Amino acid sequence: MAYKLFVLPGDGIGPEVMAEVEKIASFFTQEGSAAFEIEKGLVGGSAYDAHGVAISDADMARADAADAVLLAAVGGPKWDAVPYEVRPEAGLLRLRKDLKLFANLRPAVCYPALADASSLKRELVDGLDLMIVRELTGGVYFGEPKQIIDLGNGQQRAIDTQVYETYEIERIGRIAFELARKRRKKVTSSEKRNVMRTGVLWHQIINRLHDQEFPDVTLEHQLADALGMQLVRAPKQFDVIVTDNLFGDMLSDVAAMLTGSLGMLPSASLGEVDSQTGKRKALYEPVHGSAPDIAGKGIANPIAMIASFGMALRYSFDLGALADRIDNAIAATLAKGLRTADIKGSSTEPTVSTTQMGDAILKELQGAA
Ligand code: NAD
Ligand code: IPM
Ligand code: MN
Repeated sequence: MAYKLFVLPGDGIGPEVMAEVEKIASFFTQEGSAAFEIEKGLVGGSAYDAHGVAISDADMARADAADAVLLAAVGGPKWDAVPYEVRPEAGLLRLRKDLKLFANLRPAVCYPALADASSLKRELVDGLDLMIVRELTGGVYFGEPKQIIDLGNGQQRAIDTQVYETYEIERIGRIAFELARKRRKKVTSSEKRNVMRTGVLWHQIINRLHDQEFPDVTLEHQLADALGMQLVRAPKQFDVIVTDNLFGDMLSDVAAMLTGSLGMLPSASLGEVDSQTGKRKALYEPVHGSAPDIAGKGIANPIAMIASFGMALRYSFDLGALADRIDNAIAATLAKGLRTADIKGSSTEPTVSTTQMGDAILKELQGAA
């Protein structure tokens, strides 16, 4: 039976990097290693241009019915002036919220060939393999009230609200501890309990969860500002980092530079496992955005998107061996010296385009490289 993929290329470099994943999915189908049926939809600015909304109800229903959703990126200056409710990013946030994708896994792995492409010294990042577990459906992204109030005296008041409840912290904590058990058995939990009530609750719940269910995993806590500093000082101290929606967003962009580029970081956004079907809703997306500065030039790095497809194989379809093949093909391509502009580092090799990088990875997969 074919796996149903709902593909949302989005805006900017989104369609450019998604095209490379589609080639790989068709190759796997043709090879017979797994069958994928691809249906495409619109999200972000492209959906706004077509339907006046950041994602249509029809595409939400398709996303809900799919075995997995692949999304590339949304946003761009073209839509700077559209109403806030229908800005491109609202499409992505609706997908996360309505599909209840509370757990965002953002692995940051430094491929050996790229240890010199990072802005940090080679010895700090060589061998790096950490996992940021970002809470994705709560916190200040969704807390109410969230509004701008006119105070009537020429002043306005803007309000965002950070809210977390016990169950939200428990379920994201559980994901982090379970992942750590299969890795190096260490979790670093991060909040700002020195200034935020949500941080106080976060710290307390994570401690309790650890003591009751995961005493075999080492738990440490770092305040989020200090953790940002530690990420660029000594990133290899981390195994799994668990944190809230906003801190996770910021810290994962920081972690991206440890791997060489934002164009390298994939992610998986997962919901609860359905007790009846045993399946979970999931969306796979790179950490990067639509990169308006390079969109349309054909130079974007497709690796984050391709590795996100790899995460779909691993987490949605239990095709770990196929996911390993993708990771190995990426590593082999990089080891041969192929570089898109963002990961050029000090390499003197000519840079390759998005398509050339995608084709080289595909060739590795075909065993024809
Ligand atoms: P960005 O991630 O789009 O770009 C930041 C920098 O990284 C740029 O210099 C860009 O050229 C570079 N970059 C990003 N991805 C790259 C890739 N694959 N290959 C090579 N270089 C890459 O962030 P931004 O510029 O702050 O945001 C642009 C738009 O994207 C905004 O509208 C933002 O809201 C949106 N955004 C969307 C997502 C998403 O869809 N998941 C994520 C982040 C930002
Ligand atoms: C990300 C992005 C999104 C976020 C935006 C585009 C809504 O930055 O996925 O990292 O803030 O979560
Ligand atoms: Mn982000």
